Amino acid sequence: MSLRPKSYRQLVRPLLQNPALCSANHLKRRHYSKSHYDEQLVYKYASQKINPVSIGQLLKYRRLPLSQENILDSVAYSQAELPVRLAKRVISFHNLPFIVGTNPHIARVYNQYYEAFDRLHAFAPISDLHSEWEFTQALERQTQVLADVIPSLAQGILECKQYMTREGRTAFINDLIRSRIGLRVIGEQHVALSYQFRNENHTQEADDSWVGAIHTKLLPARMMEQCAHLVQNMCEMHYGTAPSYFLDGDIEETISYIPSHFEYIACELLKNAFRATVDFTAKIDRSAHPPIQITITKGDGYVGVRIRDQGGGISKGNMRNVFEYSWSSMQSSEDSTGSSAMAGMSMQTNLALQQGVGGPIAGLGFGLPMARLYAGYFGGSLDVVSMEGFGCDVFLKLRSIEGSHTHPMARAIKGVFIECEPDIREVLLMLDAKEKFIIEDLDSRHLFINAAHLSYIQSQLDKELESTVYEVEAMQQPKPV
Ligand SMILES: Nc1ncnc2c1ncn2[C@@H]1O[C@H](COP(=O)(O)OP(=O)(O)O)[C@@H](O)[C@H]1O
Ligand SMILES: [Mg+2]
Repeated sequence: MSLRPKSYRQLVRPLLQNPALCSANHLKRRHYSKSHYDEQLVYKYASQKINPVSIGQLLKYRRLPLSQENILDSVAYSQAELPVRLAKRVISFHNLPFIVGTNPHIARVYNQYYEAFDRLHAFAPISDLHSEWEFTQALERQTQVLADVIPSLAQGILECKQYMTREGRTAFINDLIRSRIGLRVIGEQHVALSYQFRNENHTQEADDSWVGAIHTKLLPARMMEQCAHLVQNMCEMHYGTAPSYFLDGDIEETISYIPSHFEYIACELLKNAFRATVDFTAKIDRSAHPPIQITITKGDGYVGVRIRDQGGGISKGNMRNVFEYSWSSMQSSEDSTGSSAMAGMSMQTNLALQQGVGGPIAGLGFGLPMARLYAGYFGGSLDVVSMEGFGCDVFLKLRSIEGSHTHPMARAIKGVFIECEPDIREVLLMLDAKEKFIIEDLDSRHLFINAAHLSYIQSQLDKELESTVYEVEAMQQPKPV
């Protein structure tokens, strides 16, 4: 299926002709170039289709012990998927506005993606364990490099904020982070399976709680407890004081999930709650910090986590911004370069520390939007409810990757591939934030969506385009004097 309303392209053309917004395509030679850059090769890979990360694929090798065939099959999947996904990312940088592409931080991230592509595509089809191990080691290094791109990306986007529209910025980062999650899920899953296979062979023991990087008996209460303990220590180091916390609800509940994803989301949400509590205590001069309550609830195929703090909540005005990338109430008290006063460290140092879990208490403005992307990746959700002047309730819902009948990707959903212009895709991503219908965001021109939502999408898209037409037409009317 193809969505290409003609009128929309006509409308955006004047924007694309704006020199400040023109494509950074030609930059690849000047700023990004590697002497070995092979443009045709990247385009060849990028034009291939990718397959959505499926629960079936992730849990394919549940039956232990793992066999040599399992590992070779798994590596074949990584070899087929990863270079194509990386090439598509490389191309997405070419479409950035010229000036954004010249930013050294953005250029660094670009080079890291290119390098990962270059390393991984170079392997010939693997048919023996020796080559598989070589590929796995390269893959492990590259997935680690990609795991660390967020600080550079955040710094680059912060420096280029004025050269991109809010929508363009959000779409680019969402795209990059979503695809980074996919890349890492595929890469880390294979690396974990490969280690598991070698370990099993070595120790003759099989731990059936793990399927690659997925823990099938993860205790959300224990994960929350560990993260709260870590964040409490961070808070103590940063502010010299920290609130206490307690857990209640279905604390025995287990879930099948990727622990590093859960840990990332939990730490970001807890850092926000701890920071808000300490700040608000100072603001209203109360004698002690009220504790943070972490409640676990059991649902059908999912686990709910509510983090309740008494940190004063979020004002109505700020509520609009909290899910925006690079927006932080911490930054409003800083200078325009974004240098942070946090613990006397530079913005760069703070950003460098914000790798996975840990890092600065706040200031990057990536915590909430990224946590929401992570939660949504496997069909979960993240919502913030604020009681201004009192505190926040943050609701996290994580769907078990167990392949449970309630998982949206495991249910018999009819999906449809959509090919559309990048501008239309941006509109669809915005609509998806209101009503979820995207099963997987494949690349800048392809989405895999729930077929049941097609007529809704079409009508919303028509509405959206009509309102844009109206705005542009209205803008072109001569102003009465
Ligand atoms: N529990 C909370 N209580 C009060 N404010 C919050 C809470 N969670 C998030 N916020 C607000 O949302 C903003 C964005 O959060 P986030 O994306 O995690 O970025 P950062 O923590 O780096 O500022 C924070 O700066 C803060 O103003
Ligand atoms: Mg935060």
